[in-house]
Amino acid sequence: MKITFAASEATPFAKTGGLADVVGALPRELIKLGHQVTVFLPFYSRVPRQIESDGGGEPQYAIQSLTIPFRSYNRFAGVVDAGKLDGVQHYFIDCPELFDRKELYGPSGADYTDNAERFGLFCRAVVEASKQLGVPDVFHVHDWQAALIPVYLRTTYLTDPALHSAATVLTIHNAAYQGTFSPKTTEDLLLPWEVFTMNKLEQYDSFNFLKGGIVFSDQLTTVSKKYAEEIQTPEFGEQLDGVLHKRAADLHGILNGVDYELWNPATDGHLAAHYTPENLEGKRACRADLLHAFGLEGVADTTPVIGIVSRFAKQKGFDIMAEIAEEIAERDVAVVAQGTHDPYYENLFREWAFRYPANVAVQIRYDEALAHKIEAGSDMFLMPSRYEPCGLNQIYSLKYGTVPIVRATGGLDDTIEKWDAREGTGTGFKFEGLKSKDLLAEIDRAIEAFRNKTSWTQLMRNGMARDYSWSGPAKEYVRVYEEAARSR
Ligand code: ADP
Ligand code: GLC
Repeated sequence: MKITFAASEATPFAKTGGLADVVGALPRELIKLGHQVTVFLPFYSRVPRQIESDGGGEPQYAIQSLTIPFRSYNRFAGVVDAGKLDGVQHYFIDCPELFDRKELYGPSGADYTDNAERFGLFCRAVVEASKQLGVPDVFHVHDWQAALIPVYLRTTYLTDPALHSAATVLTIHNAAYQGTFSPKTTEDLLLPWEVFTMNKLEQYDSFNFLKGGIVFSDQLTTVSKKYAEEIQTPEFGEQLDGVLHKRAADLHGILNGVDYELWNPATDGHLAAHYTPENLEGKRACRADLLHAFGLEGVADTTPVIGIVSRFAKQKGFDIMAEIAEEIAERDVAVVAQGTHDPYYENLFREWAFRYPANVAVQIRYDEALAHKIEAGSDMFLMPSRYEPCGLNQIYSLKYGTVPIVRATGGLDDTIEKWDAREGTGTGFKFEGLKSKDLLAEIDRAIEAFRNKTSWTQLMRNGMARDYSWSGPAKEYVRVYEEAARSR
């Protein structure tokens, strides 16, 4: 099949979270299965201008200028052809006024005020570019930023013979980010007013990109089975539970995979040493290297190190952790944390580290290499998320023999099995509910388990033996693409 991805992030070009990891990895897996895949991304300023393609060529314009009309003016977008990378054709939508900025979505966790225009243009440009460069069997669009593609295809472009048989699949990576704007966005983006109704893309008097995608796509997926169920409930549906429930028959939970070419302690180029389940020796060197990077060289060998790598957002549950920050720091553990985003959580971590300099350290920044070092050098990995559609870090942790401590929600619940010391089964520690005392009890259980080296090694190896590669999930996506294509 011919599949076109449209998304706002993909490794190695532009990343703020797991969406980038997925859009970076899944297309390559689909290529292995014999499909043709094209990826469209915005040409942000952080996308390198020199990209070497499989054939060694340099990026050049495939289309000099597309005219993208808005209500009272036109914008013009170029399409940069970066060629094939590992067999995947990459195009970038170039509109410097909208994308040549420091951030992807806005400064310090806030949004640029013209995001409707930015991603509205992106969606329309992908449709227009595809007409010239090749219409796929399926457009696979990700999150709200690409969710207007199915809307345009079934409204503005409904009678376009070139696009008639193209099917659409929307993947929801996070239902809380919906892209909501004022009603007049409808006419600014030249959509017909009849889409602005409750059963289409109006949501409490706002124009809602994600809802549009949910209503107009042929098939829907989200990134774990549990989250697929959760988002059909008021607790997790972010007010879209009703419309999602209506489409339950077309909504599939497909767990994300891991790109083990990038996340593997046996080969990871960011580490001080390599290790495998059979020979864990190198993990000690990784731990020492990590403690050095965080200025915590004084931490004793017998003290477990808890790692955190996260977007600091409410979703991630660090307010639950903050209630017991003091108790955690006063236990025999060290904490190394890296994250950025919401200044509230950034300060919370800063203050924590300031109060407990001997065993709590934090880096408020985005740093790919350090994220790998934390995965490898920590003994435990903490994710107390309020909700988690899939979560990738806990799956990386398993591979690195770093034992996850997670809240039982979404993909965290689907991927982490409770450790049973008597049976020697399970891969981590998991708590239910939102009470900080339950989180603390789980951390205590982990600290206690860490003391028994033999069973801890078993626990590490249980996790390392789990296989979350993309080959299974990629086949599930193909089935969804086929289902979508059948409906055209
Ligand atoms: P989410 O997409 O909700 O942020 P995921 O667990 O799916 O959560 O993915 C997060 C991804 O972003 C992981 O690859 C993680 O390593 C990376 N990441 C998050 N914050 C940082 C940071 N400050 N520095 C480096 N990598 C980060
Ligand atoms: C979102 C979710 C995260 C998921 C990622 C990739 O950002 O918050 O749980 O792993 O997308 O699907």
